[in-house]
Amino acid sequence: MPETQQRVGIMGLGRMGRCLVQGLVESKTVSRDHIFFTTKHEETAKRVAEELGIHRCESNAALVKQCPTLVLAVKPQNCREVLGEIAGGMGKENTLVSIVASISTGDMESALGAKAAVVRAMPNTPAFVREGITALCLGSHAGQRDWDRAYTLFKPLGKVVKVDERHMDAVTGLSGCGPAYIYMVLESLTDGGIKVGLPRDLATQLAAQTVLGAAKMLMETGRHPAALKDEVTTPAGCTIDGLMELEEGKLRVTLIKAVVQATRRAKMLAKQASR
Ligand SMILES: NC(=O)c1ccc[n+]([C@@H]2O[C@H](COP(=O)([O-])OP(=O)(O)OC[C@H]3O[C@@H](n4cnc5c(N)ncnc54)[C@H](OP(=O)(O)O)[C@@H]3O)[C@@H](O)[C@H]2O)c1
Repeated sequence: MPETQQRVGIMGLGRMGRCLVQGLVESKTVSRDHIFFTTKHEETAKRVAEELGIHRCESNAALVKQCPTLVLAVKPQNCREVLGEIAGGMGKENTLVSIVASISTGDMESALGAKAAVVRAMPNTPAFVREGITALCLGSHAGQRDWDRAYTLFKPLGKVVKVDERHMDAVTGLSGCGPAYIYMVLESLTDGGIKVGLPRDLATQLAAQTVLGAAKMLMETGRHPAALKDEVTTPAGCTIDGLMELEEGKLRVTLIKAVVQATRRAKMLAKQASR
């Protein structure tokens, strides 16, 4: 049976769980009748089953028996409880893919025992519009089959990269939290447009397409951002005046510090979670 015809079981159908289901279904990677799920509350489960047309499972332990690929999409504080419920049922045929922030593959392996195959994933919210980026790292008992299963889940949501687990907190600080930094940049550019007299809708559209286009230029040309910046900056032109304001406002060091601080916080949460 092709992997995509196998069942996928998702534990936790909140925002991220839903995003994953929509990606899998819309891309025709996995059909609705192969997707199973659990939630904590009865009423949520009923609503999800009705809205998304996927199968509800009565318990996490039952889900493990039915689905080779399992996704852990609960909040970090619910993680231990769920791992405890599935520990006895995990077999060689199962892969657990966790999107839970700050919980290491080592912690999950210890909670599950018996050489469980675990993959840790850090997606980000542009996954909702299929422009996300997901970093994956493999646990010590996970192999090619488990990578393939995880890749199949996240590919419909955007790009997928493989990273060393030691980089996972940094990934969280950059691409996991990054959409929030860019929304703040977009909000400010829009306000700048409004300050100089543009209607809000037009200012928003100009700001958003400029950020999208600049990112695309970087990715498609493969050139250094500083070289691309220099091309926009004509001698004695307007851009250099704008750049001088950004330098004075310490934009670059502020963004660098945002990534550093968010990474620190992710590390701290990881330490707390492993206690
Ligand atoms: N948001 C992001 O940008 C982002 C990015 C990457 C990773 N993540 C990670 O994604 C995970 C999920 O985040 P979210 O925003 O989707 O959370 P959420 O909306 O709060 O959803 C959590 C889900 O877990 C369910 N749940 C709780 N305990 C359970 C249990 N014992 N068994 C089965 N289901 C259970 C909840 O059920 P009820 O609805 O019935 O309470 C709910 O459906 C988090 O660990 C987060 O770290 C988030």
